[in-house]
Order: sequence, then C-alpha cells, then structure tokens
Amino acid sequence: MSWRVTAPGRVNLIGEHTDYNGLPVFPIAIDRDVRVDFRVLDDPVVRLDSPSARFVPFAFQLKRPIEAAVQGDWSNYVRAAARGLLEHGVPLERGIEGTVTGSVPIASGLSSSSALVVASALALLKANGVTLPRLELAALMARAERFVGLQGGGMDQAACLHGVAGHALRIEFDPLRVTPVPVPEGWRWVVASSLVPAEKSAGAREQYNERARQCREALTASVGVVAGGRAANSGNRATSTAATYRDLVSAPDSDGLLSRVRRILSPVLFRRFRHVLTEGSRVALAERAMRDGDMRRFGHLMVRSHESLRDDYEVSTDDLDAIVAIALDAGVAGARLTGAGFGGCAVALCDDGTVAPLMEALTARFYQPRLGNPPTRDVMFVAKPSEGAVVQEA
Ligand code: GLA
Repeated sequence: MSWRVTAPGRVNLIGEHTDYNGLPVFPIAIDRDVRVDFRVLDDPVVRLDSPSARFVPFAFQLKRPIEAAVQGDWSNYVRAAARGLLEHGVPLERGIEGTVTGSVPIASGLSSSSALVVASALALLKANGVTLPRLELAALMARAERFVGLQGGGMDQAACLHGVAGHALRIEFDPLRVTPVPVPEGWRWVVASSLVPAEKSAGAREQYNERARQCREALTASVGVVAGGRAANSGNRATSTAATYRDLVSAPDSDGLLSRVRRILSPVLFRRFRHVLTEGSRVALAERAMRDGDMRRFGHLMVRSHESLRDDYEVSTDDLDAIVAIALDAGVAGARLTGAGFGGCAVALCDDGTVAPLMEALTARFYQPRLGNPPTRDVMFVAKPSEGAVVQEA
C-alpha cells in the first residue's frame, strides 16, 4: 500500500518574531505544500529521493542517535522529525521509502522546511501505526526542528498541522493553542518574493538566533524596572515576580513601561524589546479587526508591523521595503515582510479589485528590472488560506 502526506507552507499575516517570546502569531496555512509519497518498509530505515537534482537521495537508520548530515543538507529536516519522535519515546520499528515533491517555494520564508519536518513525522507515524494529538505533534516538531539549528518558535509547525480553509489562525504558546478566525470574503493575500533566499539553515540562522538572544537579554535586564513599576503601582513590593513578554503586553501602562525600560537598556536591546511588545499588541488588534470585518484596519496594522520589523527589529531588506512601498502605492490595504525576514517574501492584503493592479505594479517596478522577465508563479502568487497536513492512501 502507498501513502501520500501533503503538508502546507504558511504565510504569517502578523505577529513576527513573537512566537519564541511566548506571544501569539497570526498566520494562514497556504495552498502550496510539500508532498511525501511513500511505502512502508519492514526495516527501520528512511530512504527518500526527489525529482529535483538539488536534493540528492539519502538513507538513514531509525536508530538513536540520529546524526546530522552536513549543514544545509535537506535530509536534516527528515532526520530532525525522526529524532524528535524517537526522543519522545515513539517506537519507530518500520521505515519509509519514497519521493518528496512540493510546491512551496524554497528558502522564501514560507516554511517549506517545517512542512517537510511535519510531513516526515506524519509519514513515520503512519508507517508505525501511531497517532499523536496534533497539538502535541506540533510542539514536538517545533522542538525537533531546532536540531537543524534555528532556535525557532512554534508557529510554522502549528500552522502546518492546524490550517483551516478560509481561516487565519491565532496561535498561542505555553501551552500551544490554535483558534481559527474566518477571513472575510473578498480579500486576498498576495505573496511576493524579494528574490533573495532566506535559508533557515544558512546565514539568516545566525541573525535570527542573535535576535532571540537579544530578546531574552532585554527581558532579563528589564525585570527590575518592570517589577519596580508594578510594585509601585500596587503599593506592594512583594509582587515583583519575574516578568514574561506575555505579562508585559497585557500591562496597563505600556508607554510608561517603555520609557522606564528605555533608560536601562542599550539602544539596540531597547529597539528589540519595543518591537516584541508593540507587535504583541498588534496581533490582538489585528484579530479584532478581522473578526469585525475591518480589513482596512488589519492592513494598517500590517504596515505598522513592517515598520517595526524594519526599524526596531532590523530584519527587513531594501528589496522587501521596496515591495511594500510599491504595494502601498498600488492601493493595497496593507503589506509587510512575512516570516523571519533577511530576504524571503512580503505579503500584501488586497481587495479583489486590487490584485491585478498590484501584480502589474510589482512586475513593472520590481521584477522586470531585476529579472528581465515577468515573475513566475513561484515568485508572485495569491495564497489561499488552506487545510492543514493530511495523510491519504495514494
Ligand atoms: C521563522 C521561525 C518562526 C518564527 C518566524 C518569525 O519562520 O521558524 O518560528 O519565529 O521565523 O516570526
């Protein structure tokens, strides 16, 4: 018997670099996926190939310890899934043999890597007749993917496993929870690549991990100030418990908090801190706007998010900024970089009537000058909010 796992990529709509700080994100799973067509083997071995010359066939034993291949090798994502399951105590006595194909553009900040991790885990679970609750699997695969090096949060794996057609997903952490929110009719998400790869396993990894470190440092350094303010407000010093970003986002006087924290943090740490806090509150406002059907307001928050990622978090690029500027000129409701940044894609929110003018403007002003050609369907496309990963008989 043969099986096919289909696991979608994702586009994050708002809430960037918040997940590893324990704050919510708001992505959609998209109609671009990674597929693993496989048959079950009696031996504990994984053997996969791909029609693309870029991805050389590989095999490894499902025995601990599962060693990493060289950095950048695609088998590491499959190894990460297997390793995560074994470490979780899932017995993997049977292996899989098959082929990986897909339509998620690679190294574009659309989570092709997490889709591969999730697809591999679902294939191995199916081969061994094991089921895990999806939330548990999403959290497990988020930890497992760190084996590849990026100290990621859990957004990508959760979006891949919990996507709902026509819905955005509010994803919360510690503990992981997913709440689908319907996207109002008549609105489209256009994804546009900056043509600069954002490889999770390469250069962007160091920058990303550095941001995560800075956020932890900023929080630790500000605990005294934050707790002092809280104690002063309540008139009781004993309330000075360690803060989390989640506590801070819901603090009543966020402006006061920011000005107190500004005095003790270095300018860089303060900018990182401010991004996390303001982005955290934008996610809640954006969800409210979507539930109210006020997509202009949603778009406005996307633009604020982009500015914060550009100026405070410093993960945008000139090309991503150019795409956002062209999109806004073309009359979209909002646009921002999506994913980790450092290259990859931007996403624009358009009403039905703005999709064509946006695509024409991006083609004329961004792609044609750089490519000498119009963009392909992997470079610029409409992304539909879609179902999460499925395993089917092939
Ligand atoms: C990458 C990570 C996610 C998230 C985003 C930034 O995609 O895998 O966990 O941190 O970057 O929002």
